[in-house]
Amino acid sequence: MKILITGGAGYIGSHTCVALMEQGYSLVILDNFSNSKPAVLDKLRKLNDNFVFYNVDVTNEEALERVFSNHKIDGVIHFAGYKAVGESVAKPLNYYINNVGSTMILAKVCQKYNVNKFVFSSSATVYGENKVPFKEEMELLPTTNPYGETKAMSERILMDVAKANPNFAVSILRYFNPVGAHESGLIGEDPNGIPNNLMPYITKVAKGELEKLRVFGNDYPTPDGTGIRDYIHVMDLAEGHVAAYKHLRKGVHIYNLGTGKGTSVLELVHAFEKANGIKVPYEIVERRPGDIAICYADASKAERELGWKAKRDIIDMCRDAWRFENLT
Ligand code: NAD
Ligand code: UFG
Repeated sequence: MKILITGGAGYIGSHTCVALMEQGYSLVILDNFSNSKPAVLDKLRKLNDNFVFYNVDVTNEEALERVFSNHKIDGVIHFAGYKAVGESVAKPLNYYINNVGSTMILAKVCQKYNVNKFVFSSSATVYGENKVPFKEEMELLPTTNPYGETKAMSERILMDVAKANPNFAVSILRYFNPVGAHESGLIGEDPNGIPNNLMPYITKVAKGELEKLRVFGNDYPTPDGTGIRDYIHVMDLAEGHVAAYKHLRKGVHIYNLGTGKGTSVLELVHAFEKANGIKVPYEIVERRPGDIAICYADASKAERELGWKAKRDIIDMCRDAWRFENLT
């Protein structure tokens, strides 16, 4: 019995592969390297080699069927997808085709091969401008970009599939802001080009590859005026997937994977400086269009039902992100 991991060469997928293999699961990893590099697999192999890999596009139904007929798949964890918010505004069709398309095709092949365990990567972005803390039962508010819409749509599609097939057991995981890297420093977040996200930008500034951080706005209704997010160590997030997989049961169950704690941009910058003894020069600039002021989870449902809770703190996140940056 194996778990199929789509997007397993990516940032969250690769860390989850490590956490699953540590627990004795054997894996079939799929990726088309649209946003990752084959070298990640060599690094994964150094940590644990209990996997096989296929270079497959998850929207390719025939290729997926070949994998399902070659392996006895117990369940799937579906990470594959595009995730750049700005790019989704410029290229909406690519996002709908890849993100919604891959979820539909994968769910279809699962039905055909009687694979009834399905874990899906969703995002806190589906809450839009709800009031914090975000709770799973809140009505979803329209997001400001096609990326967020692909997540909301994929969630609804999986709910309909589960209505039609009462044996389908789905866990929808809404991630908050994953940062940091595996403690070994072997794998981490390695975006192509100039990073969009805060932590990889900070590590590039600390390294001297970028001149200074631009803090997008200090006039938000927060104590220091900068945006607040719920940063979660990627290994905590990975362990959340192991818990979710173990607790899969019939129907659709939704969980926030966050810490429940908000940290502002300036607090993160200062935590990074403290954790690593290095200065991060920054300047305050205009707000970034589409950003919300505050986003953090009510993380109590995952603790109650999955027995999972984030263990690592902001200092761990900053230290591990910096270790990875220095080893790559
Ligand atoms: P990532 O880009 O590092 O990983 C995604 C992987 O999927 C990449 O390796 C990419 O090559 C692969 N991929 C994309 N489309 C594919 C396809 N059609 N077929 C096969 N492989 C394909 O991203 P990540 O940060 O690891 O995110 C994983 C998932 O979690 C995504 O669905 C993303 O939308 C979601 N998510 C991420 C965040 C975040 O902040 N990183 C937050 C919320 C949700
Ligand atoms: N920020 C800066 N400067 C930067 C980058 C970010 O000040 O160079 C600020 C942002 O304005 C925001 C905070 O840092 O206040 C975090 O921004 P990120 O871009 O790191 O993350 P977001 O919260 O905007 O979005 C992330 C993912 C989305 C996902 C969302 C879920 O990129 O895909 O988390 O909460 F949907």
